[in-house]
Amino acid sequence: MANTLGIIKPDGVRRKLAGQIISRIEKAGLILRGMKALKLTKEQAEEFYAVHEDKPFFRSLVDFMSSGPIVVLVIGGHGSIERWRELMGATDPAKAKYNTIRREFGTSVEKNVVHGSDDETTARTEIAFFFKENEILPKEMK
Ligand code: RTP
Ligand code: MG
Repeated sequence: MANTLGIIKPDGVRRKLAGQIISRIEKAGLILRGMKALKLTKEQAEEFYAVHEDKPFFRSLVDFMSSGPIVVLVIGGHGSIERWRELMGATDPAKAKYNTIRREFGTSVEKNVVHGSDDETTARTEIAFFFKENEILPKEMK
C-alpha cells in the first residue's frame, strides 16, 4: 500500500491538463494524499533526475523540467505505483497504449506530460524530495 510520486510536467501544466490528469487519478480509485505546485531550479532538476546524468538526453531533460511550473502529487491507494504507471503509459507517447495520459497528451519522448516513480524505493526517495512528512495525508484519514 505504498504511496507513489506523480509529477505533472511543465508541458502538462502549461497546456492546462492538470485538472484532467487529476481527474483520471480520482476516477481510477487512487487517492490524493499530497499536492503542490512549484517550479524546479536547474539544480533541483539535476538532482531529481541524477540517475540519468550519463544519458545523452540529460541536459535537455533538465532544461525541460525546469522550464515552467510543475504539479507534484503524492498518490496512494492499492497498487498505486503500478497503477499510476499504467495510467501514464509508456515513456514514448507513440508507443503508449490507447487511453493512457502519455498517448493522449504527450508530444514527444521527452515532453510526455507526467512522471511516476518506478518502485517502492524510488517512490520513498522521490516523495521525500518534495514533501515533508506533515504535508502528506496519513492513510487512515478519510
Ligand atoms: P519518468 O521517470 O519521467 O516517469 O519517465 P520514465 O520512467 O517512463 O522514463 P525514464 O527512462 O526514467 O526517463 C525520464 C524522462 O526523461 C525523458 N526522456 N527523454 N530523449 C529521450 O530519448 C528521452 N528518454 C527519456 C522523458 O521525459 C522521460 O520521462
Ligand atoms: Mg523514470
